[in-house]
Amino acid sequence: MGWGEWIRGEAEVEPSIYAADFARLGEQLEGLLEAGCRIFHFDVGDGHFVPPVTIGPVVLRSIAPLLHAAGGVLDCHLMVTNPANHLEEIAASGGDSVTFHVEASGRPGEVARRARALGLGVGVAFNPATSPAEAAAAARRAEADIVLCMSIEPGYSGQELMPAALGRVRELSALVDLPIQVDGGVGAANARAVREAGARLLVAGSAIFSDASPADAYRRLFAEAR
Ligand code: DX5
Ligand code: ZN
Repeated sequence: MGWGEWIRGEAEVEPSIYAADFARLGEQLEGLLEAGCRIFHFDVGDGHFVPPVTIGPVVLRSIAPLLHAAGGVLDCHLMVTNPANHLEEIAASGGDSVTFHVEASGRPGEVARRARALGLGVGVAFNPATSPAEAAAAARRAEADIVLCMSIEPGYSGQELMPAALGRVRELSALVDLPIQVDGGVGAANARAVREAGARLLVAGSAIFSDASPADAYRRLFAEAR
């Protein structure tokens, strides 16, 4: 199993667990599973590549059995300086794929090979200051399954999507024949535009978890993204 099988139809909405209410995490994830959600975005930040320490393997281990039992997968976004150092623990903790940053790894091919040897899917991410061409070159070297175009400076949920991200997604989609993921500030107001720019994977943190019903917010966004 891998990204090819996980993406159902033209587009997927991925709740970003980083924005969840951690006192009610199990309940919120169950609601999202009932609403049909299967791909969950999990942000690992090391306090170095991005300022905050976010969530990591301890949380992954708690939620992976619940999500896997329902056919869900955990897409781990590694906002870390040394992605290769974390692959084994991510895989052992129940992560299904890793997406590492171009800015963090000069050796995308090697990181990707190590990830694949552990059974993980592979994505390559790039920040607003990095060119789509550079990301596309890294994705080729990594033989990546997906490319993640950041639409904010990574680190925190709840920021606004940078409008320039839409042009960057368009540029990227002309360079790679891979599913493009967009992460940061995605919500009902821009989901259509993000799709039309060429993205198939829409990560949404606060747009889903700041709603009184994350499951309803997911359903609405999913309908909007199709
Ligand atoms: C932040 C993370 C995002 C974040 C998205 O750097 O990579 O996944 O949780 O949250 P929103 O959708 O609120 O921007
Ligand atoms: Zn993310």
